[in-house]
Amino acid sequence: MVALGTTLSAFWIMANNSWMQAPMGYVVENGAFVPTDWSKIVFSPVLWVRFPHMLLASFLTGAFCVAATGAWYLLRSKFAAEARIMLRMGLFLGAVLVPIQIFFGHLNGDYVHDYQPAKFAAIEARWHDEQPAGEVLIAIPDQKTATNYFEIKIPVLGSLIGSMSFDSKEVGLTDFPRADWPPVLIPFLTFRIMVGCGLVMLFLACVGSYLNIKERLERNRLLLWAIFLSWPLPFIAILTGWFTAEVGRQPWTVYGVLRTADSITPFLTAGAAMVSLIVFCVVYTLIFVFGALYIHRLLRIGPVGRLAEPAAGAVPNRPMSVVDEPLARSHPGAGE
Ligand code: HEM
Repeated sequence: MVALGTTLSAFWIMANNSWMQAPMGYVVENGAFVPTDWSKIVFSPVLWVRFPHMLLASFLTGAFCVAATGAWYLLRSKFAAEARIMLRMGLFLGAVLVPIQIFFGHLNGDYVHDYQPAKFAAIEARWHDEQPAGEVLIAIPDQKTATNYFEIKIPVLGSLIGSMSFDSKEVGLTDFPRADWPPVLIPFLTFRIMVGCGLVMLFLACVGSYLNIKERLERNRLLLWAIFLSWPLPFIAILTGWFTAEVGRQPWTVYGVLRTADSITPFLTAGAAMVSLIVFCVVYTLIFVFGALYIHRLLRIGPVGRLAEPAAGAVPNRPMSVVDEPLARSHPGAGE
């Protein structure tokens, strides 16, 4: 029920946010947005690439946390039977879902390209029109001078990523009035961090699953450490993904229609908005810190009700596949 509830909640959050990214199915009446066509809002093509991207991000977070916990137990030689299952399931799920996530990431890029060209140009740190367009891998974009410092760029790749073509013209930020530019540095960097996290996750999940099938993973302590340390990656990817989407949307609250500067309700002062923002930050930090400490405590205690240490002479009643080898040897009837 919790999974279903949070999925439904995520759907409506993404529906709301996708409407703000690409508004459709509405009219403005007396200064208020009024929905006129709910089917356009609920079946928006933007929503249906962003909602799966968000869901997959959550599943991957679960997968990597489970795999990392399994690796942690194995590194400490604890709960070996359970740890193996956690590692196998988490890595396998990661190996299946990360490629699908990258595909949906690409579709996300397509929607930004079509609906929010200024955000796309900011993510690419592309200041001027280019044909064919190169892809900037690393740079320090400078908004004031509209140039990139220390740029490393691959020719033609920008056209390929933007339009699946070898010679398409891709627009630069200077095509738009300066007042409509988003801050460039943040979406440029956060997008690359998100993609970087995705690629590291892909590597760990694929290599880990392969070594697991070959039964060589447990001996590879370096990889176990890497898998253990990888648990923050999906969290970082999610945060940087949202920074890309939201900072890149600036200076608009509702893209192309309502500016952020005009969005504050007349009943709220800037000071009151700041106070509520600070309260949000404090409350969420507290919830996050206590949640993290509590989960850490549960993980240290380990699986409860496990049968790895049965009472003397007792026959464990769990399936053979989850019984440690030594246990199976000392209790020959364990799998029956
Ligand atoms: C590796 C290739 C990836 C690509 C090409 C990609 C692409 C994108 C793009 C273009 C956006 C901005 C969409 C917008 O402005 O509305 C975005 C947002 C986002 N990404 Fe990714 N992404 C990738 C990987 C990941 C991974 C691995 C995660 C998390 C595990 C992730 C989580 C998110 C989240 C939570 C958002 C914000 C919600 C949204 O706008 O859909 N992304 N991604």
